[in-house]
Amino acid sequence: MWRLTASSTPSLKLSRARSRSQVAKKKAAGRGRYVCANCGAVHVQWTGQCSDCEAWGTISEAAATAASGIEVTSLSAIDASEGERTRSVSGELERVLGGGFVPGGVVLLAGDPGIGKSTLALQATRDFKTTAYVSGEESPAQIKMRSERLGISGEGVMMISETSAEKIAHWLKAHSPDLVVLDSIQTLKSDSVMGAPGAVSQIRESAALLIQAAKEKGFPLLIIGHVTKSGDVAGPMILEHLVDVVLFMETDTSGGFRILRGLKNRFGATNEVGLFEMTGTGLIDLSDPSEIFLPSGQGEGVGSAGICSMEGRRPILIEVQALTSPTAYGLPRRLGTGVDQNRLSMLLAVLERRCDISVSRDDVYVNTAGGYRLREPSADLGILAATASSVKGVPLGANILFCGEVGLGGEIRPIPRLEDRLKEASRLGFRIAYAPAQEIDAAHGIEVRTFGKAGDLMCHLFE
Ligand code: TYD
Ligand code: MG
Repeated sequence: MWRLTASSTPSLKLSRARSRSQVAKKKAAGRGRYVCANCGAVHVQWTGQCSDCEAWGTISEAAATAASGIEVTSLSAIDASEGERTRSVSGELERVLGGGFVPGGVVLLAGDPGIGKSTLALQATRDFKTTAYVSGEESPAQIKMRSERLGISGEGVMMISETSAEKIAHWLKAHSPDLVVLDSIQTLKSDSVMGAPGAVSQIRESAALLIQAAKEKGFPLLIIGHVTKSGDVAGPMILEHLVDVVLFMETDTSGGFRILRGLKNRFGATNEVGLFEMTGTGLIDLSDPSEIFLPSGQGEGVGSAGICSMEGRRPILIEVQALTSPTAYGLPRRLGTGVDQNRLSMLLAVLERRCDISVSRDDVYVNTAGGYRLREPSADLGILAATASSVKGVPLGANILFCGEVGLGGEIRPIPRLEDRLKEASRLGFRIAYAPAQEIDAAHGIEVRTFGKAGDLMCHLFE
């Protein structure tokens, strides 16, 4: 009878439903929230299985938070001095960190397994009197072997083979070393959450415990995190917002160099890169990268051009090579090493349509010295010039720099930091630079020839 009345009057039904949901909300607020230890999802009711991640037995009631006692400070009264930074033996590491380790600063060092993270971390211990090296990954004997290879005596480096985040945090708070290395975050386990080491909730909780210890005691904390084989950075990158600095270590195609990129830095500029060479005795600073990526005699051969790529605030001169050869089977191949494939296709179309240099029946191969990955479009002009040089069979000449982004209309566009690039090229003995028409204060001893259209430049070069 009641049901009949309720369904026959929609407004009554609506108000009943509304009041029921309000009661449920009130009840939930009174009782607290239920949180899944595996995925962190919040539920209003306890259930045996989490409806989000489908894990069983992971939901428990979250502790109610006290609603009083917040502390308020005026912004003007806050002391923002970051403390004295620790200079590093490695100038490259120091550059990426923005001037060395900051007390209480938390650095996440991410990268593929086997790239050299543990090596870099062990080398960083040279900068400090005492280091706690927490290793859940390798045995102390393995680390000793590595340290011998690196020529590190290991004095002042305390090895901790423990995986319980609570125990480690407790020890660190009691002993407060000058540096703490955590190798790796995926091996740690906290008792307060469920899940195996490496699970998202474990990584988050363990890191939070140790970060809190670092902030309290003021020691720099270097957290190592692996990315998965498929290049998925989700694991350690969930920490990205918790840490102060994120460094990512990668390699070029030749495998000999290591590039350390600063993806986030609360204490300095991002986009900085540190360059290292992996040798038999560890990572060695590559403080003059242009010497490596610009082989002597570049530009003398057909299809070779000198370009300058900015890595952060650092200009690096790189040789780009192109080879064109008639297509044997129907569809031409276009292959770029260190060059973005889509960018290459676009540039070849510009060469064909805007510069009247045909590559439609040619296979085109473009690569950079050392397989160095070009990330900015300022290399466009150099790629065009190298390809055109190969098609024409005419060398571009030694010590000539090509700088400029090329648009679809064949226009040569201005690029940032042209002057820094010219300065670096001048230092390395370059005489001429082909560049976009843009204002600069000084040419730093280089003859700058400006062009508005790539087609005009090609005419100038080859006719
Ligand atoms: P490692 O630091 O263990 O990598 P990760 O911690 O990122 O997994 O480095 C492993 C690689 O580095 C391994 O293939 C061997 C090489 N290596 C050298 O070439 N020279 C060295 O001096 C060291 C210590 C390692
Ligand atoms: Mg390692």
